[in-house]
Order: sequence, then structure tokens, then C-alpha cells
Amino acid sequence: QLQPVQDKFARPIRDIRVSITDRCNFRCVYCMPKEFFGSNHAFMHRDELLTFEEIDRSIRAFVANGVKKVRITGGEPMIRRNLPDLISLLSEIPGVEDLSMTTNASLLTASAARTLHSAGLQRITISLDAIDNKVFGSINDVKFPVKRVLDGIENAQSAGISPIKVNMVVARGMNEDEILPMVRQFHNSDVILRFIEFMDVGNTNDWQMDKVIPATEILDTIRREFPIYPVSPTYRGEVAKRWRYKDGKGEIGIISSVTEPFCGTCNRARLTAEGKISHAVCNQWI
Ligand code: GTP
Ligand code: 5AD
Ligand code: SF4
Repeated sequence: QLQPVQDKFARPIRDIRVSITDRCNFRCVYCMPKEFFGSNHAFMHRDELLTFEEIDRSIRAFVANGVKKVRITGGEPMIRRNLPDLISLLSEIPGVEDLSMTTNASLLTASAARTLHSAGLQRITISLDAIDNKVFGSINDVKFPVKRVLDGIENAQSAGISPIKVNMVVARGMNEDEILPMVRQFHNSDVILRFIEFMDVGNTNDWQMDKVIPATEILDTIRREFPIYPVSPTYRGEVAKRWRYKDGKGEIGIISSVTEPFCGTCNRARLTAEGKISHAVCNQWI
């Protein structure tokens, strides 16, 4: 049995998140607020990014040391040119049991979804923080319409990518009134909706504890309309707690990284766009 690579706290590393760009076409207020990521922000130059060959070589080294899951992230990963070529490379690595991507879906056209799926992308997670167009537009801060994200979700479904998860970051004063409308939207669909507590990602997103809506409060809100019961994790170290609707019409997840931190059992590392190895979640490296 292969001994997995460990970090300095002796946590075995099983998953790796790979940021393939630091750029994003959104300016989500909780992630890349405009005042810090404006037009004069120094993003990386293309020749500073790891090449696909370098990413492939790094992932092979991780896999040889016990890593089994690979998730492509950014910034917004679909901005990176020739992304399907990277997916093809990574999907061919023996030992990669799970290959997924987190995206804002803005570029997820029907043909992009088909190409990614045939290149080997198994599943996908899409960020969507509101179903009300005005609320979502002011969160992504580029007025990106909800409809186009919903189209992206549909395109992924039609391409056969499954399961599809939707991530909703919840913050007080931002979108707490959208919790139930989002549940209504995705209840009785194949989409797994997940609520994420607003996290501190450094000093740029104006994080304050009183803006965090605790998972318990999110659950109380949902229960007002939808009876749910807890179910066990799909895999060891899953960050989302799973709940199923009593009517049998699907499931939701809650990621309570603030009120119930799971750092002790974290088994994730990150490969940054410039090739550094770090903890899984910090700053705009989502
Ligand atoms: P699955 O493999 O589908 O379970 O995906 P995931 O939930 O690990 O990935 P995703 O990119 O959807 O992450 C969702 C959110 O979970 C992130 O935005 C973070 O808020 C949180 N998260 C993921 N991994 C970590 C981690 O290692 N530490 C902390 N603190 N939060 C994490
Ligand atoms: N708090 C919680 N989640 C965040 N994400 C980005 N910034 C934050 C934050 N400050 C989420 C995105 C995406 C996921 C990978 O990370 O919504 O879905
Ligand atoms: Fe872009 Fe995702 Fe950050 Fe929003 S959360 S700014 S879509 S990287």
C-alpha cells in the first residue's frame, strides 16, 4: 500500500486543486472585489503560468505519492486557452480517479461542455449565488445574467457531465433572501446545491464574523419549506455535509468552513498557477 505524501502537519494529501490562471471575468465581491482587482491589478503574465506539460508532470508526481483526486480551478479556469488539451492530458494519468472543475460557467457553451466531457472531464461544480438577476449581477459585479449560468448548467447536463453541483456563497446583507429561491430552483433536479459560509480569504474581501450566516441558520431557513434529513458523506474528507429532501427529490450540501472548521482532517493541497504548492483554499485561489 502506497504511503500518501503528507504536509507539515502530517495530514495525508489525497486531493489536489490546480489553479490554472489567476484571472477571472467576474469580480465577485467576496472573492475578487473591484477595489483590489481593478484595471491596474498586476495579474500574472502568460509565460509565468505553468505550462500544461509542467502541470501534467507535477500531477503525475502527486499521483505517484497517493493523490487520487484532481480539481481544476482558477481564477476562472475556462479563460485559459486550450483547456480541453489539459483535461485530456490529466485524464490519461493512471491513478487519477476523479477529475473535476470549478467554474462560473460563463464560457460553458454547449460545444465547450461537449469538448470538455469528451476530453475526460467527469464532473463539474458551478458557482451561482442568487437566482434573482439583480442580486446576482451585483454579487458578480459585472452584471452577468443568471440565465446564462443556468444555460451553462443545462449545457453541462446535456453533454453528460454528472453530477453537477452548484456552489452558493451565503453572506449576510448579500444574498440570505436567496436561500429559499435557490432551493426551489434546484429541488427536484439532478443538481446538488451547496451552501458555503462566507470565508475570510485574506484582507481584501472585507470579511467580518457578523456577515457569516452559520450553517445552522441556513438549515433552519431551508427547513421552513423543505423537510430534510442528514446523510453520510460520499467519501472520506468530504467538506460538504449532505442532506436529502424527505420527498426524495434530491439533495443539498452545506460547507461550514467557518463555524465548524475541518482543517484537522483536510487532505488537500493546491498547485498554484505559478507552480507553488500550498494549502487548498486561500485568497482568490478558489
Ligand atoms: P467535491 O469533490 O465535489 O466534494 O468538491 P469540493 O466541495 O471539494 O470543491 P469545491 O471547489 O466546490 O469547493 C467548495 C468550497 O468548499 C470552496 O469554495 C471552499 O469554500 C470550500 N473548501 C473546499 N476545499 C476546502 C479546504 O480544503 N479547506 C477549506 N477551509 N475549505 C474548502
Ligand atoms: N468564501 C466562501 N467561498 C468562496 N468562494 C470564493 N470566495 C469565497 C469566500 N470568500 C467559492 C466560490 C466557488 C468556490 C470554489 O469558492 O463561490 O464556488
Ligand atoms: Fe471569479 Fe469564481 Fe472568484 Fe467569482 S468566485 S470572482 S467567478 S474566481
